[in-house]
Amino acid sequence: KKGDFDHFMKKEIHEQPDSLTTSMRGRLKDGVVGLGGLKDHMRTIRRSRRIIFIGCGTSYHAALAARPIMEELTDIPVTMEIASDMLDRKALIFKEDTAVFVSQSGETADTLLALEYALQHGALCVGVTNTVGSTLARKTHCGVHINAGCEIGVASTKAYTCQIVVMVMMALAIGSDKMSTLAQREAIIAGLTKLPEKVHDVLKLDGEMKALAQSLIEEQSLLMFGRGNNYATALEGALKVKEVALMHSEGMLAGEMKHGPLALVDEYLPIIVIATHDDSFSKQQSVIQQLHARKGRLIVMCSEGDASLVCPDGRSRVIEVPRVVDCLQPIINIIPMQLLAYHLTVLRGYNVDQPRNLAKSVTTQ
Ligand code: M6R
Repeated sequence: KKGDFDHFMKKEIHEQPDSLTTSMRGRLKDGVVGLGGLKDHMRTIRRSRRIIFIGCGTSYHAALAARPIMEELTDIPVTMEIASDMLDRKALIFKEDTAVFVSQSGETADTLLALEYALQHGALCVGVTNTVGSTLARKTHCGVHINAGCEIGVASTKAYTCQIVVMVMMALAIGSDKMSTLAQREAIIAGLTKLPEKVHDVLKLDGEMKALAQSLIEEQSLLMFGRGNNYATALEGALKVKEVALMHSEGMLAGEMKHGPLALVDEYLPIIVIATHDDSFSKQQSVIQQLHARKGRLIVMCSEGDASLVCPDGRSRVIEVPRVVDCLQPIINIIPMQLLAYHLTVLRGYNVDQPRNLAKSVTTQ
């Protein structure tokens, strides 16, 4: 049921404070993360030579968002695989690997075939899914349910943010034997506790995002630049815009800007730059200066209070979001992008819950 909302996508975007709370429920006790589904395999995971994150679409992006903190807290190298590409390349995978399969539905054909492949090669296979009893949940050795609640809109929203939270909790659990990161882990756990409240705050940008959508309604194309923890936010924000608003949109790694994309910059093409306050901030400030120097039409997402730092001459449109601990910032930052995609779609008159040519669960290759 849609309740007070016109569409499932909007309802699911606004459910995120609750879905995140449910996702964390019973898993953060006395400053310790407990993930029952991984307990018996923790020794094997900690000894693995590498962790491989595998998924498609939004689920792949969620894993990409969690990758930096997984590496930082576990000291295990993390590589990324899009399921179809892993199969196309017959990618190397070994029994010393832990392969983490991420899928909202747990029924995506490419992800399940990649799982068969990893099982044949003897890797420990971990599932991260929203669907209890799904094929992914049944065929992996162990795993964690994200408990986001049923997601109806084809565009994944609340499952994305809950997947990130679950993978951050996995990083905390796997890395919990390291004294060197204790203070950092405590800060993240404190951040997780406050996260639903911060998500509630960022949802207040709904009206502002509707106004931004209004100003972009006739555009052909929209670029999003991110890096570090928020490279995934750029990719995922662009995916949301293209899949529901049927507008060309590309997420780009800001570090790659000078290696091609800069040629596209002019005073017409709208570019969203994600420049919230983390350890990539000064690099993003310099990206903004370079884009300004080419008269770029910028919309800058920054942390509350940073507007004058990212846009000293007041020339760009600024979206200010609450600041949270770095590894959780992608959860906050994607929400204005979800709202933007939603409003663009409705204003352009397209079907927001059932975009053309797409299905909720892609069960064919
Ligand atoms: O069910 P899954 O998470 O495995 O689905 C993977 C993708 O098909 C899915 O995330 C798709 O990209 C979303 N509909 C995008 O919003």
